[in-house]
Amino acid sequence: MERMIKFQIDGVMAEAPAGKNLIDAAELAGVHIPNLCYIKGMKGIGACRLCLVEVEGLKAPVIACNTKVKEGMVINTKTDRVQEVRKFVIDLLLSMHPLDCMTCTKAGGCNLQQYAYDFGLKESSFTRKKSGYPTDEANPFIKRDPEYCILCGRCVRVCKEQGTNVLDFMGRGIESKVITANDRPLQESGCTFCGSCVDACPVNALIESDRSCKGRAWEYETINTVCLLCGNGCEIIASTKDGRIQKINSAAASGSAEKYLCAYGRFGFDFIGAETRLASPMKRIDGELRETTWSDALGLVGDRLRKAGRDVGIISVAGLTNEDALTVKRFAQNVVGTRNFDTTMSLYADSDSFEKSDRADIDKADLIILVDLNPSQWERFLPALDASVRKRVSRGARLLVINSADTKIGEAATMNLIGDEISFLQGIAKALITKGVKADKKLESSVKDVEITEEMEKAATFIAEANDALIFSSPSLFASSANIALMKGKVISVGLESNTKGVALMGLTTEGKTFSEMAGIAKSKEKSERSAVKILYSVGEVPLRNRPEGIEFLVVQNSHLTGLAKQADIVLPSTTFLESSGTMIDYMGWMKYLRKVIEPQGESKSHSDIFIELSKIMNAALKRPSEAEVRKASKTDKKRAFSPFVKKDEFDFSPEELIESVNSSVINGSRLLWLKESEKSVIA
Ligand code: SF4
Ligand code: SF4
Ligand code: SF4
Ligand code: FES
Repeated sequence: MERMIKFQIDGVMAEAPAGKNLIDAAELAGVHIPNLCYIKGMKGIGACRLCLVEVEGLKAPVIACNTKVKEGMVINTKTDRVQEVRKFVIDLLLSMHPLDCMTCTKAGGCNLQQYAYDFGLKESSFTRKKSGYPTDEANPFIKRDPEYCILCGRCVRVCKEQGTNVLDFMGRGIESKVITANDRPLQESGCTFCGSCVDACPVNALIESDRSCKGRAWEYETINTVCLLCGNGCEIIASTKDGRIQKINSAAASGSAEKYLCAYGRFGFDFIGAETRLASPMKRIDGELRETTWSDALGLVGDRLRKAGRDVGIISVAGLTNEDALTVKRFAQNVVGTRNFDTTMSLYADSDSFEKSDRADIDKADLIILVDLNPSQWERFLPALDASVRKRVSRGARLLVINSADTKIGEAATMNLIGDEISFLQGIAKALITKGVKADKKLESSVKDVEITEEMEKAATFIAEANDALIFSSPSLFASSANIALMKGKVISVGLESNTKGVALMGLTTEGKTFSEMAGIAKSKEKSERSAVKILYSVGEVPLRNRPEGIEFLVVQNSHLTGLAKQADIVLPSTTFLESSGTMIDYMGWMKYLRKVIEPQGESKSHSDIFIELSKIMNAALKRPSEAEVRKASKTDKKRAFSPFVKKDEFDFSPEELIESVNSSVINGSRLLWLKESEKSVIA
């Protein structure tokens, strides 16, 4: 339980948890203290001096962002003295800022404009100073205009804390400028185009480059939902106007250091209207795919499925909502009568690891252990995990990286153990037992002959000392990593796709033929094998370029016309995650809600709706799963017990390969293609 502090603010008694600074404590009491350089969740740096308040008993005003609330404190936020200082600060800032609020893109969402309005300042009483620095707008994502910069430093701090470290100050005083290394454009600076700096900037100095004339902040309808493009399942806010998405931001609290989205989630949304987007169902006539009606397409599919029964196989991505996953399973079992259904999860994980994974909060962890994981903001592979881990480390948590290969995240580690993961885990387990940490008898006997090296000893000391150790493991090493968590801490199996955990809990896991068997994916990958089924129904953007051999009838249900879809007999257009609603469970174990941001394009329908309509045609009508059914299915009682230390490496796809493949339409159908091409040219 947090200790609560009682204080008085503007004549009203209030309470806040001990350790809060005055800005956050005041906010809890419903009082806003003006601020420009403060970022929630980070230490106040006292740069802008806008947050000055008076505290009874102290002669001079104090800076609220770096003063902690104390028992019995009496705070006044609106005295004449502090209002005068604030007005002076805003007046000075206006002297170095264009006063073009009538045409400025940020108008309505600009903190400086708001404070100028609050103080009735139309213009500055000081002489106008122009920075004269050029605008950086050579990339399709972020426009940097130093003319608007008020030197608050928020962008520099968020970029540093998340480990990308692209921005810094050059020069002194009002001559300073936020620059990249050697003052190069963003795309030549190691920038990942995550846009965290855009979320942090209080003015128009950093803004989405396509925002001009696309609507003001007050014209937008905002909808909170979840990005389904990778395992992180980041929460997003989509702003729409006239039924179109205008921008996407992180859904973390405004001005918070927790804000992070990668370029896929923030800037990839124009894939919705890509040229390859499917608008209506299609069927193959005389060797060519031609548009048809839903009733014709579903009638044909229903007919073939009814006749084929057990010869039908359904393969799907694991980035489906829980509702879609339950519907696919019920459709296969109860309508078609086949156990041949499986998802991409079986290409890189076994479902058991997700069912036995803990629920955890990374912000509580004081020791993070990454086992066989290589998250990277630069490669956009689990980028939000990379950013969150680096932020925790910069706030004092320890990081232990255990990987057979060298990793970029290793540079941020307190200890970077490169070598055989199993040997490290066994050695650490033995060292923990030697330190008196209680262990299961079987676990104890399995490591009795293991030799402990100095590194293992030190890693075990970190674990023994931690209050909240949190292990993130690849699914392949989950069982072995979980042996450590049997002694201390929590363990998470990190799924690559957005709802891998949810899909596992909903039971859309291998029962009959596997994904590889149905898709004809040969172990050697040099040539495809014959499919184990005759009729294949593919759901979502599966990593399959060619129609598997032996397939008599192929149905592809996806939002975009992929290479596989071009070879299908029937193509059914489905909605994207921004046009869908439902729930998902992230790998940390939290259920999140997807809300429909815009109406589906063309005639596309959600996966659930398509299967429900098909079930009616097949005379075995399904209902959309209720929230209660999803919640019931999401409860798991699978307990963890000791499991031999082994790495399961029989999976068919490398993680990076899979993520790129399931997001192929997003990358190739949006501005992200520029990123891919420009990165390629840098490497070349
Ligand atoms: S987009 Fe991300 S990486 Fe690039 S400068 Fe901004 S915060 Fe840093
Ligand atoms: S670019 Fe924006 S966030 Fe960065 S220092 Fe300037 S005003 Fe602050
Ligand atoms: S990290 Fe993953 S979930 Fe988050 S914004 Fe990027 S693609 Fe979406
Ligand atoms: S917000 Fe406190 S000094 Fe800027």
